[in-house]
Amino acid sequence: MNGTLPEDAALSAVADWLSASSSTVVLTGAGMSTESGLPDFRSTSGWWKQIDPRRVASVEALEQNYSLFAEFYRMRLERLHDCQPHRGHLILAEWERRGIVSAIVTQNVDGLHQRAGSNQVAELHGSLSRIRCHACGTGAAVERFMNGDRCGRCGGKLRPAVVLFGEMLPEDAWEHAVQAISRAELLLVIGTSLEVYPASQLPLMTRGRVVMINAEETALDHRFALTIRGKAGETLQQLERLLTGKNEEDGSEK
Ligand code: OAD
Repeated sequence: MNGTLPEDAALSAVADWLSASSSTVVLTGAGMSTESGLPDFRSTSGWWKQIDPRRVASVEALEQNYSLFAEFYRMRLERLHDCQPHRGHLILAEWERRGIVSAIVTQNVDGLHQRAGSNQVAELHGSLSRIRCHACGTGAAVERFMNGDRCGRCGGKLRPAVVLFGEMLPEDAWEHAVQAISRAELLLVIGTSLEVYPASQLPLMTRGRVVMINAEETALDHRFALTIRGKAGETLQQLERLLTGKNEEDGSEK
């Protein structure tokens, strides 16, 4: 089967696959967090439509234009401070508790999955709210970065522990992601354009079924068992209703 079922039939198929699968992994991208109020990168309102990533999110930017680099990441940390996980994040955390989801692999650096209660999360692109020195690696409090302080140990530049353009992915998170995804029976890919290598290769590394839930078409959609065009949070709520047979909002039977 691939990608062309009517929406209701597609949702029921995914709910059935979720119930039957003994190992489901979820791969998320920035589209998972837009319903929490964080912009993604490549949509019309995305960060990279307004700013060239090489100017603010690269090793070169950090080393040669630190004030602009730091301003960009302070702005993202401030925005994150005002955001909460949405219902979709909470459902994924609940699915982990109920044994429906075994792991989340995320390209997001916002920590919203963990704040929603997910424990098995591999952060492929690091974390915005972990601050360290670019020179010596010593950790520092977020407040020190927000205040424009330097490393207390060596005086080096403080930075978020995110993967910048020009840097490698953290090896342990990548290994974990490859292991979990290659063994999965079902992989839900949610809210990612799959334009960034190597994360874009992960959905092609599984022996299991792949379901794509995304607001827009991606270049790899034809490779997946099913594609659902919709919002992450809304689609997860629809799936949860099918799984529990109840309407989440009013608690009534379906
Ligand atoms: P993108 O901005 O490239 O893709 C986000 C996708 O989510 C787009 O296809 C949107 O249409 C879709 N989308 C937006 N809101 C949605 C919603 N509510 N529900 C479902 N889909 C929605 O973001 P990523 O694929 O995550 O890397 O980008 C990958 C990496 O590129 C990021 O981790 C970041 C960036 O450069 C680093 O910073 C290292």
